[in-house]
Amino acid sequence: MLSKDFLWGASTSAYQVEGGWNEDGKEPSVQDVRTVPENTSDFKVAADHYHHWKEDVKLFHELGLKAYRFSISWSRIMPNGVVNPKGVEFYTSLIDELLSYNIEPVVTVFHFDLPASLNEQGGWGNRKTIDAFADYCEFLFDTFGDKVKYWQTINEQNMLTLAGKVIYGNRKTWKDIFQENHYMLVAQAKVMGIYHAGCYPGKIGPAPNICAVYPATSCAEDQLAAEYMSAFRNWLYLDAAVYGTYNLQAMEILRALDAEPEITEEDKKIMQENTCDYIAFNYYNTACAKASKEGSAVEEGDQQSGFGIPGFFASAANHSLPKTEFGWSIDPTGLRVTAHQIYSRYRKPLLITENGLGGRDVLEEDGTVHDNYRIDYLKQHVEELKKTIADGVPFIGYCPWSAIDLISTHEGIRKRYGFIYVNRSDFDLKDMKRYKKDSFYWYQKVIRSNGEEV
Ligand code: BG6
Repeated sequence: MLSKDFLWGASTSAYQVEGGWNEDGKEPSVQDVRTVPENTSDFKVAADHYHHWKEDVKLFHELGLKAYRFSISWSRIMPNGVVNPKGVEFYTSLIDELLSYNIEPVVTVFHFDLPASLNEQGGWGNRKTIDAFADYCEFLFDTFGDKVKYWQTINEQNMLTLAGKVIYGNRKTWKDIFQENHYMLVAQAKVMGIYHAGCYPGKIGPAPNICAVYPATSCAEDQLAAEYMSAFRNWLYLDAAVYGTYNLQAMEILRALDAEPEITEEDKKIMQENTCDYIAFNYYNTACAKASKEGSAVEEGDQQSGFGIPGFFASAANHSLPKTEFGWSIDPTGLRVTAHQIYSRYRKPLLITENGLGGRDVLEEDGTVHDNYRIDYLKQHVEELKKTIADGVPFIGYCPWSAIDLISTHEGIRKRYGFIYVNRSDFDLKDMKRYKKDSFYWYQKVIRSNGEEV
């Protein structure tokens, strides 16, 4: 039996759902100026939530959501470093509307959409971005801190670092990438410090993408490879957020890559003194690793593809798992493994901020969408989540991706995740009408029964 306060929610992010990318004083973000990924349209209109938010929140209420996890667009709130009243008005109205329906706003302050002007000045590679981020967040806490109880700092910093090419359209040297990563870690710590010093009535935490890494075989070398991969992909980020330190095995890899960041004494102090209250994490599937011979190439891919670091680990295929039509493996039990790994290491309350299946949904002539593959995926994950909670792991809530159809990071809107269908395609904006999918009714039932009827 789940607690009656369990937050059954759903997620989106600003640049993937809002549209209105150049309206009411918003500055373009890096996502608005990037090269459009192959085979997708100009995706800046997204799901046009900026013009449909009231109708969307009403649907979220009908769905029964207890929480809505969304991100605030930095470049809408503070274009070129100056507060934009229209941007503040938008998020104030959105938050108030959610609260009027008793939907808890769960806010991520940064989800892949750095203001373009900051990017031109070096983005996260420029130490000054730390202060810009701190100013922006302090403004958010002062403005919305009495209404928002759950904050997340940076969405999937680990994927931004490891799969920056697909998410951001850039690729730099490992040295530059990990210096940027370091500045993000310091920025995150600084902001957690500001939040705590301000005594706002809520909690703040990171939101990385975490997945258990299995060894390809039972040999010790593969086990070690899996540990290295996990240190590099998962624990580097959580050790920093929870303990304020760098993970040892990850640091060893950074040294081998000649990518050790420059860390000042002041940085160390900021990181150690300012840590998180809870851990939000995104879970899609697991990874598998095998020992890697020196000299094999580093593989690259999207946020769920395997990758390798010569001499430490190589990714291995896990043939035991089924795959989505977009090639992401499906591993519900892996959610339980992952959650146990996180909780045993950190002993902090957990919140799932993303989990879901991207598929090519079909809108039937009668306005229905039969997405039973998504129901199957979510059902299995909710079952495993319930078992994990029964095992004693404290979960604040579950916010699958996504509340409504939105634009994928690099595969357009043909790869849909939502409970609500948005009538547009990659190259035709159509009428943007909203339709409830079969998964909408399924999740409604799950929420109504507080997880009893899955
Ligand atoms: C996560 C991101 O990596 O996965 C989301 O936080 C993203 O922004 C989601 O949309 C699904 O990935 P994709 O590439 O299918 O959009």
